[in-house]
Amino acid sequence: MLGQVPRSREHPSNCCDRYIKSLPPQTSHWKTGAVDDGVVRLEPWGDEEAAWYAETVCDPEIQRFTTDSPTLDAAQVQAAINRLRSADKEEGFLIRDAASGAPLGNIALTHDGQAGEVSYWLAPEARGQGVATRALVLFTAWIFKNTTLTELRLRAHQDNVASQKVALRAGYRRDPQRDGRQEAKGVVWPMLGFALARPELA
Ligand SMILES: CC(C)(COP(=O)(O)OP(=O)(O)OC[C@H]1O[C@@H](n2cnc3c(N)ncnc32)[C@H](O)[C@@H]1OP(=O)(O)O)[C@@H](O)C(=O)NCCC(=O)NCCS
Repeated sequence: MLGQVPRSREHPSNCCDRYIKSLPPQTSHWKTGAVDDGVVRLEPWGDEEAAWYAETVCDPEIQRFTTDSPTLDAAQVQAAINRLRSADKEEGFLIRDAASGAPLGNIALTHDGQAGEVSYWLAPEARGQGVATRALVLFTAWIFKNTTLTELRLRAHQDNVASQKVALRAGYRRDPQRDGRQEAKGVVWPMLGFALARPELA
């Protein structure tokens, strides 16, 4: 939920130069903690979105490819939002349409102070428009600007072609060393690893 992703603790690796070159112009609103590229905006979760989160994760593709529980309710999401606000090893943003303000999805980070793991999902109506790539590029830049993490990682189910494309387009590189099997929802998922080093360490 929110920042709940599988952890991996392997060693850092080399950077992908495409990431630095692909960063879009950004508008940062540090007082509110929001960041946007003119098309999507990332902002802290508000209490009013707890019910939306709980409803949206019932989507079959979110259930198929993320660890969010299908029985999640708004009270549980609210508790997770409250925890997130004071957590020092987690970050999470609501993805919004920058123009309309419509909620589009979730993007989150858990970390151990050195390396972090990113996860995301979009509501069905927000898919197929490059939103996840924009959100991941923005979030990655935000993380490297606001933390000292040296590497970001993510893992996608081997059947989740859309997520794998998003990772590569956002500058992450395939990292077969982080491929692995993950138990989720009573079954074992074959996962493919992706990684991105802090740009100045490239
Ligand atoms: C994965 C996800 C975030 C992708 O976000 P998105 O902004 O919709 O990504 P896009 O629609 O731009 O798709 C990226 C690419 O994957 C392709 N794609 C989408 N669904 C696909 C599928 N089922 N099979 C193969 N390719 C697919 C798209 O065609 C696109 O490629 P193209 O631009 O070359 O045509 C979104 O689909 C989602 O929320 N899925 C459910 C939750 C999830 O999987 N989260 C990630 C867990 S690792």
